[in-house]
Amino acid sequence: MKIGILKDHKKGERRVAISPKISKQLISKGFEVLVEKDAGLNASFKNSDYEENGVTVESRAVVFKDADILIKINPFDEEDLKLIDNHHILISQLYHKSNTKLIHDIAEKGATAFSLDAMPRISRAQEMDVLSSQSNLAGYKAVILGAYEMTKIFPLMMTAAGTITPSRVLIFGVGVAGLQAIATAKRLGAIVEATDIRLETKEQAESLGAKFITVDGDTGDASEDGYAKVASEEYKQKQKEAVNKSLFEADLVITTAMVPGRKSPVLITEDQVKQMKNGAVIVDLAAAQGGNCSLSKLNKTVIENGVKIIGTTIAPESVSTNASDLFAKNIYNFISHLTEEAQFKWDFEDEITFGTCIVKEGIIKQNGIENG
Ligand code: NAI
Repeated sequence: MKIGILKDHKKGERRVAISPKISKQLISKGFEVLVEKDAGLNASFKNSDYEENGVTVESRAVVFKDADILIKINPFDEEDLKLIDNHHILISQLYHKSNTKLIHDIAEKGATAFSLDAMPRISRAQEMDVLSSQSNLAGYKAVILGAYEMTKIFPLMMTAAGTITPSRVLIFGVGVAGLQAIATAKRLGAIVEATDIRLETKEQAESLGAKFITVDGDTGDASEDGYAKVASEEYKQKQKEAVNKSLFEADLVITTAMVPGRKSPVLITEDQVKQMKNGAVIVDLAAAQGGNCSLSKLNKTVIENGVKIIGTTIAPESVSTNASDLFAKNIYNFISHLTEEAQFKWDFEDEITFGTCIVKEGIIKQNGIENG
């Protein structure tokens, strides 16, 4: 089968779904690999890097025409749909629960589609989990972005001109991004505190050197499937009381709290921002889902009461080489799992295949799409 790597045309996207190195590994598994011209340029992979690894560089039209499996990072768009037909197997992040029109359009074409963001959260799927590999980098980059925007440094520094006290960093949400943010801020010398609705994250945060702020409230069975549920009103109130002291002393706040398929919870209100330190920075990684700070605006920096609020999702894109490398390895593991001797196994008894295959030859497999 032929795998086609597409250039992602989404504004601001700099990653490519498969790197030259992983292309070579796919070729040695028996696939042919085509790449759309210049697909890897923004991730620092030249066309010649792909060619040297046995990949054929083609125009967009030829990749669509010749490839059986089409791979990209972001959901297929209107322009892609014009070129998709019933022989294609599509792999990307489809966000199928909110992108119902796209799923119906793919089904109408008679194509097959796998959604990477629908990967079940089970241990054997960890190596295929793009949300996890990309969030990890986002957590790192959020701290670097914060450091750049702050007017202070992180570590304690004793100099002849006096002592600089360490900065205080507060992290909301101790998932994959939050854990990496803790580790990065700690390495840079900050005093780090963190909180999460899932109490099992306390030990993980502490093992990286953060002080965990425990909220004494009803967590509403917060961690049934590894993901958080929506917090109760009682919890939200208690959370505010528990974090306010740390929030008002923080130099950098990183928010990563998300609930899959829902708007992200508001954890910092305008009233709280007004009580924060002048010069503090909030990096809101949940901005695309509405934001954890009520003042966040996606891809914008808002300044309120001397506090800089940066609503961003660009974190993994901004380290596009590493992000593409990890994304590519996730895809390699996923394709290896789905196929045998370069042919699909279509084993719907398998939780990973069942969970990620959203459309099979024009038939929508996942319940819930029709309901949106
Ligand atoms: P996420 O991006 O959905 O959410 C980030 C964090 O926000 C979570 O830790 C969540 O508990 C927290 N959060 C949500 N609402 C909150 C609220 N109101 N207040 C405070 N915190 C709130 O989650 P992410 O980072 O994608 O992963 C969550 C967990 O899933 C990981 O810690 C890990 O244990 C598990 N996981 C398992 C995988 C596997 O086994 N294949 C792969 C990736 C993650």
